[in-house]
Amino acid sequence: MKYKINNICCIGAGYVGGPTMAVIADKCPNLTVDVVDINEERIKQWNNKDLDRLPIFEPGLSEIVERCRGRNLHFSNFIEEKIRNADIIFISVNTPTKTKGVGAGKASDLKWVEACARQVAKYAIGHTIVVEKSTLPVRTAEVIRSILDSSLKHNRKENKSSTFDVLSNPEFLSEGSAIKDLNDPDRVLIGGENTDSIEALSDIYKNWVSKNKILKTNVWSSELAKLTSNAFLAQRISSINSISALCEKTGADIREVSRAIGSDSRIGSKFLESGPGFGGSCFKKDILNLVYLSEYFGLPEVANFWEGVVKLNNWHQHRISKLIVKRLFGTVSNKKICILGFSFKADTNDTRESSSIAICKDLLEEGAFLKINDPKVDPDQITKDLDINYQNDIYTSEQKSTANEGWSFHRNIYECAEDVDAVVVLTEWEEYKNINWELISKSMRKPAWVFDARSILNSKKVSSTGLNFWRLGKGSK
Ligand code: UDX
Ligand code: UDX
Repeated sequence: MKYKINNICCIGAGYVGGPTMAVIADKCPNLTVDVVDINEERIKQWNNKDLDRLPIFEPGLSEIVERCRGRNLHFSNFIEEKIRNADIIFISVNTPTKTKGVGAGKASDLKWVEACARQVAKYAIGHTIVVEKSTLPVRTAEVIRSILDSSLKHNRKENKSSTFDVLSNPEFLSEGSAIKDLNDPDRVLIGGENTDSIEALSDIYKNWVSKNKILKTNVWSSELAKLTSNAFLAQRISSINSISALCEKTGADIREVSRAIGSDSRIGSKFLESGPGFGGSCFKKDILNLVYLSEYFGLPEVANFWEGVVKLNNWHQHRISKLIVKRLFGTVSNKKICILGFSFKADTNDTRESSSIAICKDLLEEGAFLKINDPKVDPDQITKDLDINYQNDIYTSEQKSTANEGWSFHRNIYECAEDVDAVVVLTEWEEYKNINWELISKSMRKPAWVFDARSILNSKKVSSTGLNFWRLGKGSK
């Protein structure tokens, strides 16, 4: 039996749920899309009249929200009601790494997913297709399935008729280019058993994605493919970052090495940019999931192989902070350092797992005073990331009260670099490529350094102003 889809509900109005549903609503004006969330503040922000104040920043997103919101795209906290109305429900809630209990530090905490499955089991009516959108450990569909199945028995007793199918439909969007990735995906992956439900979901995507890009697999292959995709991408970054360290020792240039190996069509040029280490909500978490899964199934060699990717990333982040300290005569105590970029990559306000957090914490630990700039990140988020309880007694009380326990935030780049000993570029924001170094150089304390961990600056322009310059994978000139 072919299922007719009229109403879509998405639980979780985050970085994945928000943009994904906005694009579905945009491409399928005949469908009603409801995005629900337990967080009232977040929903208020999604409904904000001022489109510059949506809870997440993604190029192109506000235009779509403007077109669709109130038409066939709605944001609310009416979870029960929207579940009841839905023909298809996307679960897009967060799945953080467990901090305690079995699998702590590696396995994903599924408590939110489980809570959603229970809500769906309780309120859904008729046939409902439940879609895993969050990145989840392999075999999570089984957990959702068993929660829904147990509710069926209960429903039968109460004479309520509801049936469910669970599909896996992982998201491959990359933050900063989410709208582009959603509008023109490389592939859409749908894992499931029931062909009618798979077809119903596939029909939604067929409104704008060509049929041959829609891949259908069993549910476990789909779940594992998502983790593996992210693990492969992250592996490339750790590989190139490991070689950047070798370049600095040998005089090779990582940009040249990258270009040379990327021209081999078997390797390809993408994801070969050396940087301060990968961040974002997915890479580390997904690899750790893979590690946990491999250990669980008695495959320690496989687990160690993938864990190496995360270990290298951690090492690389600390390597950068250590070499900054070393170049600044072995101490940054009481020195001011300007940090350019706090988001984990350009074109997003997301800071989750950003390398800037690890590097800033190291520098604070060493006693530096940080002046931080980012075009989109909210300074309150930085306060959370750097831990407001951070204590360091080397600052005068005046410095502390005016500057958040060792750091201050500046939206203006030039003000941010005033009076500092070093500028460190950690995110590849476009505006950092066009900085007037002549001007900055005049206001820095000499001898002054510029550390480019994203390889985006013109070394000649920086060096010609008398500043010392270091670039990742090349070293100082
Ligand atoms: C996504 C994926 O779903 C996750 O698996 C992946 O690892 C990271 O990316 P994301 O959209 O980025 O998550 O997460 P987030 O921005 O934190 O949004 C999740 C939303 O779900 C939050 O707004 C939260 O309030 C909401 N939520 C959580 C619910 O509505 N109900 C719950 O029970 C739990
Ligand atoms: C990633 C995957 O790309 C996406 O398919 C998945 O759905 C979610 O996880 P995201 O984390 O949003 O997306 O961004 P991505 O562009 O993959 O970047 C991740 C991190 O790797 C960033 O910190 C980025 O700066 C870094 N990176 C990326 C590099 O250091 N070098 C590169 O060449 C590419």
